[in-house]
Amino acid sequence: MKSSRYAFIYTIGCQMNVYDSEKLASILNSCGFEKTDDMDKADVVVCNTCSIRHKAEEKAYSFLGRFSRIKKTKPHLITVMAGCVAQQEGEKAFERVPHLDIVLGTQAFSRFNRHIQAIQSGSSRIVDIEDSPAIYESLPDSSTFEENKVSKFVTIMQGCENFCTYCVVPYVRGKERSRKPDHIIEEITLLAGSGVKEVTLLGQNVNSYGKKEGEISFPELLKKINQIDGLYRIRFATSHPKDLSMDLMHAIRDLEKVCNHLHLPVQSGSDRILKKMNRGYTRQQYLDKISELKRQCPDISLSTDIIVGFPSETIEDFNDTLDLVRAVEFDSIFAFAYSNRSSAPAAKFSAQLDEKEKLDRLNLLLQLQEAYTEKKNKEQIAKTLEVLIEGRSNKKHDGYEFFEKNMEQMTGRSESNKIVHFPSSRFKIGDMVRIRIENAYPHSLWGHPELN
Ligand code: SAH
Ligand code: SF4
Ligand code: F3S
Repeated sequence: MKSSRYAFIYTIGCQMNVYDSEKLASILNSCGFEKTDDMDKADVVVCNTCSIRHKAEEKAYSFLGRFSRIKKTKPHLITVMAGCVAQQEGEKAFERVPHLDIVLGTQAFSRFNRHIQAIQSGSSRIVDIEDSPAIYESLPDSSTFEENKVSKFVTIMQGCENFCTYCVVPYVRGKERSRKPDHIIEEITLLAGSGVKEVTLLGQNVNSYGKKEGEISFPELLKKINQIDGLYRIRFATSHPKDLSMDLMHAIRDLEKVCNHLHLPVQSGSDRILKKMNRGYTRQQYLDKISELKRQCPDISLSTDIIVGFPSETIEDFNDTLDLVRAVEFDSIFAFAYSNRSSAPAAKFSAQLDEKEKLDRLNLLLQLQEAYTEKKNKEQIAKTLEVLIEGRSNKKHDGYEFFEKNMEQMTGRSESNKIVHFPSSRFKIGDMVRIRIENAYPHSLWGHPELN
């Protein structure tokens, strides 16, 4: 029987939150709420929040704030704040969102259905930010998947104990703990059986996978996942530079499903700032890992995260970062202006930079990287790349001159994670096709399927 009650979930933040939102949808499904994309239809609204930067946190409050008015005309509506802001704020969340029903911390998923039932029976303002060492386990629920989804995230570990001084994650996601290999393999086998071709394994520091539990190592886990029938590609994020092992480099080189791409956040190119950030490596150690990686895995594509304007960052420190970006030639970067988080130690560091200075530096860095992104994209011209088709693209975008009218356009990603557009009526979503690249744009590539 079709449910007549609906759940709307709004996700902010990292890929882990995308994965968690699916779990929340599945729990709500078991409580009788069908997932909807139409917020007006919703009987339960969940905002799955992120507190990594001030802006993300504000986005959550502004989204949830809207329901104060809506609840007046729809009193049965249940509003939930889930995720990292919920974990960080607890009771305090009611000060800014008085009409909230549930504050659901990052380790409270196994109790979510109970809280929903309690609200339905008349309870109010439930807060659950208790630590639970066990990771919430549930098998993928296809009723909460987007249709035609060829690529899925799979969280393999939770928490972080690195305590980088700018970062809230260790405080909102708890101690580092890994899922059991058998659970991960079972989940991915099920996904592959339902048509998923690519998985991205998620953890704050995947190189520490299984270390505490005395289970298999991350490269060993990759080896097992590599054997799953029907799966074409394996990606993972994030690797911490201080723990990037030779075994992992060999796994990237030798396991055919593991993509030749690594996301290795450097955060800064200055030794002084890296030390203040508590990153546990020097600029030279990072560059040495990159050289070894390029030796072991020729043509590897590289991406990174960088924070500019960390407290006390001088122009010289910032120039060291620009210099590192020139030296490595990343395929892409994710760059952020440092955002002061009161629960992280750097909030108390002296010499905080003003917002304008941070933004000026951010723009300079992004401008510099643009040239490398374009260079890396242009290097693909005349190459033939394997592309996993993710969807149809009927919009003209990215300054395309070659868009072919009257021809179906498809889109997918190369092994190096570059977006590729091409015309074709022969293929379907989920196919792996060989595309000869003819043109490069700032954010994507264009080509034709190889004739065979
Ligand atoms: N575990 C991953 C990072 C997760 S957070 C790692 O260690 O790399 C994703 C990115 O957000 C970080 O890499 C960092 O670049 C950025 N970030 C974290 N805290 C931030 C802050 N306070 N201000 C600005 N950016 C931040
Ligand atoms: Fe945050 Fe550092 Fe942990 Fe990454 S490794 S989640 S940046 S504390
Ligand atoms: Fe944000 Fe929490 Fe992810 S703070 S980046 S949603 S782990």
